[in-house]
Amino acid sequence: MQTALIMQVLEVAEKAAIAAAVWNGRGDKVAADQAATTAMREAFNAIPFSGRIVIGEGERDEAPMLFIGEELGSGGDPIDIAVDPLEGTNLCAYNRANALTTIAIAPRGALLYAPDTYMWKLAAGAQAAKNGDLHIDNSPQQNVRAAAAALGKSVEDLNVCILLRDRHQELIAAVRACGARVSLIDDGDVFGAIATAVPGTGIDLYLGSGGAPEGVLAATGLKAIGGFFMGKLDFAIDPKGVEKRQRAEKTAEVDLDAALSMDTLVRSSDAAFIASGVTDGEMLAGVRIDPSGSVTTTSIIMNAADQTVRFVRNTRRSAQGIVRF
Ligand code: FBP
Repeated sequence: MQTALIMQVLEVAEKAAIAAAVWNGRGDKVAADQAATTAMREAFNAIPFSGRIVIGEGERDEAPMLFIGEELGSGGDPIDIAVDPLEGTNLCAYNRANALTTIAIAPRGALLYAPDTYMWKLAAGAQAAKNGDLHIDNSPQQNVRAAAAALGKSVEDLNVCILLRDRHQELIAAVRACGARVSLIDDGDVFGAIATAVPGTGIDLYLGSGGAPEGVLAATGLKAIGGFFMGKLDFAIDPKGVEKRQRAEKTAEVDLDAALSMDTLVRSSDAAFIASGVTDGEMLAGVRIDPSGSVTTTSIIMNAADQTVRFVRNTRRSAQGIVRF
């Protein structure tokens, strides 16, 4: 992806984070999500590109903004977009760590239109995956041991991030039983998966089930920088799984029961993932507003063009204490 476009999309993520952060700790996840979505849509429309939402806030009939298929931008290169304008709505509402605004971009047709159901996910950085022996169909023990061996660590020093959910009790017990540590997160598995490839987060491996759309977002970032992601759809966890599967079968681009590699989820090596912190977290600081009204955002960019992970700290100054975009 061209640097100019990346910088414009970065601004989209930042503006959404600033809008969402107004709601940090206010207990209203719907208002927070709406604020992020509105800001994101407005900012996308200012970009001279032909953007199209592939993963967004929902189907056209249920989401007024950033719905699947919505065209954005003022015209230019055709780009597909996956967004979760506020990843971790509860994290923002309760001012907990790691609420993010997240965006993935890729050439037209490159991002899998993942059904809005659950996906089992396995994610790791390049080092942990270097031996090629991680696989979503392997047992948690096999994947934990493989990642530890590739990193040259003992299993006892491996840190596995897992969403705290009842459905993960067995998984958590299995990972602990083989000696590894488990870092439980309340929400936000895009962070959990991406963090495996970001030094300093202390997370070596991500395991567990979460939203399938979030899986495509994380896969884009990991693919861009040579990390590892593999997923498998699971309609059985979903209370509306039967009807969602029937709908997905009509439009399916892939075998709905197969292991989905990064190359299936993201069919181009020219992709980028951009996220901005809303609340403070291990990977990104949240939005800061100083007494003069200046606003500082912290973001991460994973870009396939140069396989880099960039951290960007931007301050929008305001002489009058008024925030201006
Ligand atoms: P929201 O931002 O929509 O609240 O989603 C947060 C999240 O934790 C995702 O990161 C994750 O993929 C999904 O919810 C897990 O779903 P569930 O809470 O149903 O287990």
